[in-house]
Amino acid sequence: MTGHVSHITFHILRSHHVLQNRVTQEFERRFGAPPAFVVRAPGRVNLIGEHTDYNDGFVLPMAIDRAIWIAGRPRGDQRVVGRSLDLDQATEFPLQDLQRGKTGWTEYLKGVAWALQEAGYTLQGWEGVVSGDVPLAAGLSSSAALEMATARVFALVSELPWEPATMAQIGQRAENEWVGMNCGIMDQMISAAGEAGHALLIDCRSLETLPVPLPPGTVVVVLDTATRRGLVDSAYNERRAQCEAAARFFGVAALRDVSVAHFQAQADRLDDLTRRRARHVITENDRTLRAVEAMRRGDAVEFGQLMNGSHASLRDDFEVSSEELNHMVACACQQDSCYGARMTGAGFGGCAVALARADAAHAFATAVGNCYQATTGIAPNVYVCTATNGAEVVKG
Ligand code: GLA
Repeated sequence: MTGHVSHITFHILRSHHVLQNRVTQEFERRFGAPPAFVVRAPGRVNLIGEHTDYNDGFVLPMAIDRAIWIAGRPRGDQRVVGRSLDLDQATEFPLQDLQRGKTGWTEYLKGVAWALQEAGYTLQGWEGVVSGDVPLAAGLSSSAALEMATARVFALVSELPWEPATMAQIGQRAENEWVGMNCGIMDQMISAAGEAGHALLIDCRSLETLPVPLPPGTVVVVLDTATRRGLVDSAYNERRAQCEAAARFFGVAALRDVSVAHFQAQADRLDDLTRRRARHVITENDRTLRAVEAMRRGDAVEFGQLMNGSHASLRDDFEVSSEELNHMVACACQQDSCYGARMTGAGFGGCAVALARADAAHAFATAVGNCYQATTGIAPNVYVCTATNGAEVVKG
């Protein structure tokens, strides 16, 4: 087994200082003075509550120790001048005359500026450098992180109140209406409102949040299959439409309003496809609330079983898993140190997440990586994650 180890990329215990120093030094080099501020906004992994956010339901993500960082200073005018250090690309645009460009990192900055101004805020310009270590297109919400980092900067230089839920809605609107991706509210909410050491229960209808500590002695491991599927957006929109059809059948605003008991009483009257889609969402909301109770009791075993149940439901009823995700989850569940595992995020490739014994974290990560590679021939990325704060001003 150990023969496979060299191909797997392990990412363990990220240090904040590396990226903070990088954006600070690059700012100084390019602008000839120290930055007036440094902000960070994290990516996320969702522990349970998948494809529930756009059904007004419950999610339980955590902000991870991988983030987008911006070092900058205010400008006296209404222009944004920025540089992505990772892509080595510059951008410059006037806030009074935002024009859509080709999709790329700049569109997230413009989209947030647009949505803030649509919401009635008066914005000040700024200049700065951007860098991050949230892997792109891996399902760890690098775009929500960029949106929330941008919002944090605008809030700072324009003296706007930082209200995480309001800013998350701004970010979602930027993504939906400027970038054109029809996501729910989860990714922006957790990037805005995360709390170190905790997962966050989010009620996606009221946007109320409840921090829940991770069970003692456990660690969250992100298992990236290193596979990405095309057509994720159209499959995602199709699932949304199927959920809306099911809500209409039940005569409710969203599937959040249907209890498991009510669903079971009515299920025979639904066609097979709609029944399975609805069953996933309704039981997933229930599992998420039970997972929170388990977590509050420190019951990692129960929590893990709910994760396993979530995966089966996403695979069989909601049909958003993939062969590689199923292999990864199976590899994780084979380990004695594993409490539970499931696909996470939109699905169709991307990442799985596992809850494992903290004292076995490294052995767990190695064994799962080897098993996955032996089964699929693909080298995975494995991230042992800690839960961090949401978007914050680190300096300034
Ligand atoms: C993507 C979307 C989220 C959410 C998940 C599925 O990550 O951006 O809003 O719908 O899929 O839970």
